[in-house]
Amino acid sequence: MKKLIVGNFKMNQTPEESKAYFMRFVSGFTGNRADVVLCPSFLSLPVASFLAKGSLVKIGAQNVSDEEEGAFTGEVSAKMLKNAGVEYVIVGHSERRNKYKETDKLINKKIKTALKNGLKCIFCIGESLTDRNTGKTFEVIRHQIEEGVRGLYENELESVVIAYEPVWAIGTGQNASVKDVENAAKVIRKVIFESYSEKASRDIQVLYGGSLNEKNVAALLNCPGIDGGLFGKISLNVNAFLDIANNLK
Ligand code: 13P
Repeated sequence: MKKLIVGNFKMNQTPEESKAYFMRFVSGFTGNRADVVLCPSFLSLPVASFLAKGSLVKIGAQNVSDEEEGAFTGEVSAKMLKNAGVEYVIVGHSERRNKYKETDKLINKKIKTALKNGLKCIFCIGESLTDRNTGKTFEVIRHQIEEGVRGLYENELESVVIAYEPVWAIGTGQNASVKDVENAAKVIRKVIFESYSEKASRDIQVLYGGSLNEKNVAALLNCPGIDGGLFGKISLNVNAFLDIANNLK
């Protein structure tokens, strides 16, 4: 199976800058080595989905409201995203958990609302440096998964991708080791096995994210149990990211 490559642009690119990026990426992407989802900011979604239409490039959003519609100032609903050509949404990113105090409960509600509206979720989990240093990594990610998928039916998991992003590896230039990633993938699949089935634990897509770059990508994305990667900084460099997406080993 092809690897899944996801670019999280975070709070970068104006719509005009996204236009230039997508024109270049869509025309240069071969789709031979990987599937690609690009997640620009909300404001760039219309131009991105317009330019990606009919191509192999899929569009994701970086956030979604847990509510369906109504008096929720500043929020963007799953239905709006779907209507704007969005296929995936990132939920549970550590930047939202930490800076915007998103709880496991809220994340679970966002996942349910997104799935109900036909969006796929890139559900992020990962331990902090303190968790890691106190030997709590697996306990923390187990808890995040159990709470995040609570109440989901097994067939709904087909629309959920789990991204293991250790907080200490995000934006630090310090990626996890192949062994760390392999062990995390094992735990993730074990939790899904215990909560669902052997089939679900085998079928669920698991990504790694955190300081991925052109040098470490092959080793980290080819370790056992890993189906792709979630990229931050490097995804903003269109030529570097195209190179990764087109030539993934
Ligand atoms: P970096 O690749 O910049 O470390 O960011 C990873 C990330 O948070 C992707 O969601």
